[in-house]
Amino acid sequence: MPKPDYAIDEMISAKAIAARIEALAREIRGEFRDTGQLIVVGLLRGSFVFIADLVRELDLPVEVDFLEASSYGNSMESSREVRILKDLRGEIGGRDVLVVEDIVDTGHTLARVTEYLATRAPARLRTIALLDKPARREVDFKADWTGFEIPDEFVVGYGIDYAQRNRNLPFIGKVRFTGDDA
Ligand code: PRP
Ligand code: MN
Ligand code: MG
Repeated sequence: MPKPDYAIDEMISAKAIAARIEALAREIRGEFRDTGQLIVVGLLRGSFVFIADLVRELDLPVEVDFLEASSYGNSMESSREVRILKDLRGEIGGRDVLVVEDIVDTGHTLARVTEYLATRAPARLRTIALLDKPARREVDFKADWTGFEIPDEFVVGYGIDYAQRNRNLPFIGKVRFTGDDA
């Protein structure tokens, strides 16, 4: 079945995102001031834009690593089975780790990933998500820092895809379905 037609309405502007990231970076700098070298872990693919902007505001000695987890694939619904498709390159035992995510929706992805990383006994394991959709939560999970709480809308842009498209939009947009299928 072909994907329905849709339009995208801006929900959070690039400017508002940048301002929020500056404030979040200040808080994170406070928390990790005493850390020798923080490992910032981006969850691929969705977090690639957010992590790029966040680390440039951090002004701390950081290492950047990535882990690929996927639960949605091309579907609009969570499979609830989070697969680790690519593991970290570095060791995190005894180190301070900040996991960076684009959005917490049902919560399955970050809950599963943090449980998985915790088995390696990092010194501190913290999480940050740019967006949080609490209305959709299925497992009890809250990121340590959240950029914006949003209503239950299908969002794209700033790293977030709909069927692998629209990740390159510089803002967060809301998908509005149009045409006969809407
Ligand atoms: C999306 C998004 C989060 C996750 C959030 O990833 O980037 O990682 O879903 O949903 P949840 O809280 O319901 O688990 P997706 O599985 O689409 O992979 P992607 O990052 O490669 O797009
Ligand atoms: Mn993702
Ligand atoms: Mg996705």
